[in-house]
Amino acid sequence: MNCNAEIGRGSAYCNRINESILCMDIDLDSLIGEAKAVRARAYAPYSKFQVGAAILAKSGRVYVGCNVENLSFGLTCCAERSAVFAAVAAGEREFAAVAVVADSKTPVSPCGACRQVLAEFSGDMAVCCVNLKGERYETTLAELLPRAREGILGT
Ligand code: THU
Repeated sequence: MNCNAEIGRGSAYCNRINESILCMDIDLDSLIGEAKAVRARAYAPYSKFQVGAAILAKSGRVYVGCNVENLSFGLTCCAERSAVFAAVAAGEREFAAVAVVADSKTPVSPCGACRQVLAEFSGDMAVCCVNLKGERYETTLAELLPRAREGILGT
């Protein structure tokens, strides 16, 4: 692992992430590729909106997930949570980056529930939101969900 790593493209973002939270190589393009690939397996008969996510653990391993919908709607699980749950089941607890891909007008970004689930394990990580036109929005979890753990259970 390399502390001066490039994170995909977009150098301002790369520098910010590298300085603040990460100390490892992140190949955003390949993370996006994995998210795109797993998107094809999404089970989205109701919304027809297929989403794929790939999460990079600090171990260097990548885990993928897709959205899995349910007739009850409320039981639907987003791609991001599917990916985190797969990673946790494999023994991971710390994450460096997540990429999310969907066929959206603007780059898809994690819903509030997924932001909170991601923050359970790593309060900050790179978040790369992408659509099929190749547009991407690069941000951080701390930006998307500030104060994620404050004031809960007396903290
Ligand atoms: N969805 C995701 O899987 N991730 C997101 O970031 C946005 C929304 C799913 C949930 C549901 O199956 C469909 O997209 C429409 O909301």
